Amino acid sequence: MIISVAHQKGGVGKTTLLYNLAAIIKPDLIIDLDPHDGLTILNRLRDQQYNVASAKTDKELIGLIKEYQDKTVMIDCGGFDSGVNRIAVAASNVTIVPIQYESMTERVGLNGYTKVLSEISENVNRDITAHVLYYRQNSARKDFSDTDSFIERSKHLSKFTNVLPGRAEYNNALNKHHAVVEHTTTRGSRAARELHAFVDELLTIASIDS
Ligand SMILES: Nc1ncnc2c1ncn2[C@@H]1O[C@H](COP(=O)(O)OP(=O)(O)OP(=O)(O)O)[C@@H](O)[C@H]1O
Ligand SMILES: [Mg+2]
Repeated sequence: MIISVAHQKGGVGKTTLLYNLAAIIKPDLIIDLDPHDGLTILNRLRDQQYNVASAKTDKELIGLIKEYQDKTVMIDCGGFDSGVNRIAVAASNVTIVPIQYESMTERVGLNGYTKVLSEISENVNRDITAHVLYYRQNSARKDFSDTDSFIERSKHLSKFTNVLPGRAEYNNALNKHHAVVEHTTTRGSRAARELHAFVDELLTIASIDS
């Protein structure tokens, strides 16, 4: 099973999200596609390190995917469009696209990414659908209707029911080199419960799509 976190827009929280999901999913391998090695560096600070490998070329990525064929693999894509990021999305059972909040600029970013998904679909000759996650928005916000209808109209987008609002626990845990569900002061928090609920939904979708 391959789960990727991807968006051509930078800084939406892909690396932080994957770091936190991995503590629950416990993948056999995490592939870091970002040339800045963000996840690789965060991982080095951990007591119990994830198994992280970096892949910078198509060949390296394909080699790792083949090596871990029947295993659980998570991929942190870089925040830009590239051949190697496209291969990751094409190979994934589920692609999570975090979008930071409900706004016009986010919809512009998402619109750009649907074009990428459409081109990947043409290249592999099947329809690729990525799943949008409302991530880091204000926890008071409940009306996502504009973005909801944008997603409904898009052939290449679907949406998670769970949302993950912005919470201080993410940075509090990360500063101690822990995921939210690991750290003593954050593992019983609402943020931790939200992450567990999201992973339940994610794994259900991943098993249906595999
Ligand atoms: N759930 C969250 N709550 C609060 N802050 C967060 C959360 N997730 C991410 N952040 C913060 O948002 C910033 C960007 O996050 P991150 O580096 O994970 O994004 P990215 O999409 O991986 O970026 P890039 O495209 O450059 O790889 C960081 O400062 C991170 O601490
Ligand atoms: Mg990143």
